[in-house]
Amino acid sequence: MTANVPTLSLRSGDGTIEIPQLGFGTWEIPDEEVTDCVLAALKAGYRSIDTAAFYGNEEGVGRALRQTEVPREDLFLTTKVWNDAQGFDSTLAAMDDSLRKLGTDHVDLYLIHWPTPAKDAYVDTWKALLKLRDEGKAKAVGVCNFKEHHLQRLSEETGEMPAVNQIEVHPYLTQAKLREFNRAHDIVTEDWSPLGARLDIIHDPVIGSIANAVEKTPAQVILRWHLQIGSVVIPRSTNPSRIEQNFDLFDFELSDEQVQAIDGLDEGKRSGPDPDEFNVGA
Ligand code: A2P
Repeated sequence: MTANVPTLSLRSGDGTIEIPQLGFGTWEIPDEEVTDCVLAALKAGYRSIDTAAFYGNEEGVGRALRQTEVPREDLFLTTKVWNDAQGFDSTLAAMDDSLRKLGTDHVDLYLIHWPTPAKDAYVDTWKALLKLRDEGKAKAVGVCNFKEHHLQRLSEETGEMPAVNQIEVHPYLTQAKLREFNRAHDIVTEDWSPLGARLDIIHDPVIGSIANAVEKTPAQVILRWHLQIGSVVIPRSTNPSRIEQNFDLFDFELSDEQVQAIDGLDEGKRSGPDPDEFNVGA
């Protein structure tokens, strides 16, 4: 499975499961477009697909899963509970809805999409995720957009840390401190908006000069940096040749100096909301 893509181990109840370090993201890809995009990604070699109830494209992802010849057991499928469904019983119902739309009896990873402080329901939501994992509806469970204080609270109130924390990470927001906290607690960091497209990082001169030096595109340099800092990375594209390009990351390496030069671009600049202030759907 997953050809030449390295994997990382995730805590999964009593054991561990492997997550490919490179996956395909589907945020903002409309349901009617996503089937072709996922099929293009599977053809290019991706075996991990990331969706969410909020993306409104789980049915389209499900169609791709039915159309592909890649068997379900070779795929790593992630979805997320949206803010409006947070709470114990509503999360259990949201999972059944996602599984029905995806046309599968389990996901590999189920995530809380945002902490949503105005709702203050993420601890009960987390308890529901632990139950879903124990029932086998999700092999591993985790969160997105959690800061240290949210993670600490989960641990204090339930005794269990998430297996994954999916957060905004790119060269202008390297999140070194939070990634280190994750690592120290055996939480795999997954990087969303990896290319920082809204901040136009692809045209940063430092990225450009490294791209020239390694004879790769700026996007490939940025994605390679994510792999080398130890994250799972889930680039998204609707363009088949860019989908392929973003998978072609395993025949070159950045030097330590090049990784450090990219680390040095950090400006603490978010392109998305601050998780302490994001309450859409609360
Ligand atoms: P497109 O779908 O036209 O390829 P982010 O990582 O910040 O979420 O960025 C996603 C955006 O980056 C998408 O809009 C996508 O546009 C664009 N993109 C994806 N791969 C590449 C690439 N290899 N080169 C340039 N732009 C890319």
